[in-house]
Amino acid sequence: MDYKIRAARKEDCKDIARMIMELAVFEKMPDQVKISYKELERDGFCQNPFFECLIAEVSDAHRSKCGHTVVGYALYFYTYSTWKGRTVYLEDLYVMPEFRGNGIGKSLMSKVAKIAAEKQCVRLQLSVLDWNSPARDFYAAKGAQDLTDSEGWHFIRFDGLSLDNLVKEAPQD
Ligand SMILES: CC(C)(COP(=O)(O)OP(=O)(O)OC[C@H]1O[C@@H](n2cnc3c(N)ncnc32)[C@H](O)[C@@H]1OP(=O)(O)O)[C@@H](O)C(=O)NCCC(=O)NCCS
Repeated sequence: MDYKIRAARKEDCKDIARMIMELAVFEKMPDQVKISYKELERDGFCQNPFFECLIAEVSDAHRSKCGHTVVGYALYFYTYSTWKGRTVYLEDLYVMPEFRGNGIGKSLMSKVAKIAAEKQCVRLQLSVLDWNSPARDFYAAKGAQDLTDSEGWHFIRFDGLSLDNLVKEAPQD
């Protein structure tokens, strides 16, 4: 199947938001999605974007059953390892079910790796749910290391009240 991988444009944000929700449904947590295409437009297409995104697009002839030509995405941003240096974090990788198994997921991930390597990133990191064996196998087959298995890292988050409390406890400037 013919497809192209390209940088997302502002006008892709409705498609990206749609696929973010599809991925959240797949991950059994659709209620967690609070973001809309408006925030994506604001945060990804401003002077200092918070994320970058690649899109997988098929031709009109291959459009999805629902009429979509944007059929996959990889959303990523840059972080920093105090041990190794520049790092890219792959937040989401998603291909619509009817387009899987055509190499699109692999192309999206490789292109993120290439863009990051051009910026001297030495790591590509991501998180995956423990029950998502197809994705875990896909990453393992590409040579990724599972850090929970090998080093015992936990994934920690502050948000909502716990984040508000941290903010309140910040020293005054
Ligand atoms: C994981 C995901 C992005 C992979 O995308 P994809 O386009 O299906 O993967 P590809 O076609 O590039 O295949 C990559 C490899 O996995 C295998 N594969 C993956 N899905 C397959 C399928 N449905 N049928 C056949 N092979 C499949 C391919 O054989 C290929 O192996 P190879 O490199 O040895 O050829 C996609 O399955 C997906 O969106 N899954 C649901 C969301 C998800 O789990 N995202 C990751 C969250 S961390």
